[in-house]
Amino acid sequence: MQKHVDPAKGFAPDNAPLLQVSAEDFRANFNKRSFEFRHRLQDTKLFEIDQLIELADKILAAGATDRFAAVNYRQANVGTKIGTTPNLGLRETVSKLDQAGSWVKLSRVQDFDPKYTAVFDQLLFEMEGLLNQPLRREITWSTVTIFLASPKIATPFHIDHESNFLFQLQGDKDVCLFDPNDRELVNDKEVEAFYLGNAGAATYKEHLQARGTVYRLTPGDVVHHPPLAPHWVKNGDNISVSVSVAFGTKPLERVARIYQANSLLRTFGLAPVSPGLSPTKDKIKAAFVSRFENRNPRSYADLMFTPVNRLRKPIELAKRVIRRSAQGRGSIKTTV
Ligand SMILES: [Fe+2]
Repeated sequence: MQKHVDPAKGFAPDNAPLLQVSAEDFRANFNKRSFEFRHRLQDTKLFEIDQLIELADKILAAGATDRFAAVNYRQANVGTKIGTTPNLGLRETVSKLDQAGSWVKLSRVQDFDPKYTAVFDQLLFEMEGLLNQPLRREITWSTVTIFLASPKIATPFHIDHESNFLFQLQGDKDVCLFDPNDRELVNDKEVEAFYLGNAGAATYKEHLQARGTVYRLTPGDVVHHPPLAPHWVKNGDNISVSVSVAFGTKPLERVARIYQANSLLRTFGLAPVSPGLSPTKDKIKAAFVSRFENRNPRSYADLMFTPVNRLRKPIELAKRVIRRSAQGRGSIKTTV
């Protein structure tokens, strides 16, 4: 087993930080808007193709097939829905990336090799220093995900729950990020559907493309995705290796609970108020949905979707009762 690296000492030969950014820029933009800076993850030597094939073998040997996704995106473009493309055999795909029109994802690699755990620790340690706040205390779910993509592959437009940093290690790619608060681009109902488990709920609106910022990432670049910032990715004319370091926190989970409450209220024909507009309503909604959480989640799905799954049956029952009693009394028009 590899020795765990002391996060305080760093990886670079000159002990330089992995994140090459000023605290001022980091603090001003973190979780609010996308921004780009430089990194030195290449100094760890852990993200070269040979190392990654070894890592893929470790994940397979552990039987963790759910930590793999290998998808053929040859036919896809930025408007394709997530989850509508066919899966491929994994190890074969990794070793033939230069030929296949493929995209491979290795998830939560920090669980399979302490060297990657140490890199993750180091990055969080540096972020805490930049923010001057104890970030790790707030984190409820995190993942280091490695993306390997064949030339010209596109990852369709979508949103993610987490706060994310996408590090480019090899090849180049365009990442287009949009404002996370633009509800014309992705409306409340789409975000609610996303928080019910539909990963492809956000629909690309080509006429709003000009609102996006396109970052051309080359090795050594990193771009921050704020939570719920819509984005698409287009690979350059080369094999691309990128690393995503993403984490959910308690405050982000609270927002998810409010969207989940709103989606449930909408099923009763009510008109829920968007999160952030009424602190009192937000508090009640988050508290209610949180009561149905799984206290020992073993996966992202457990953490995020247990409350809505637990509430589904009683809600269906309540809806039938309300529908019956509301017959003849017109529709309900209450803002909640
Ligand atoms: Fe994403």
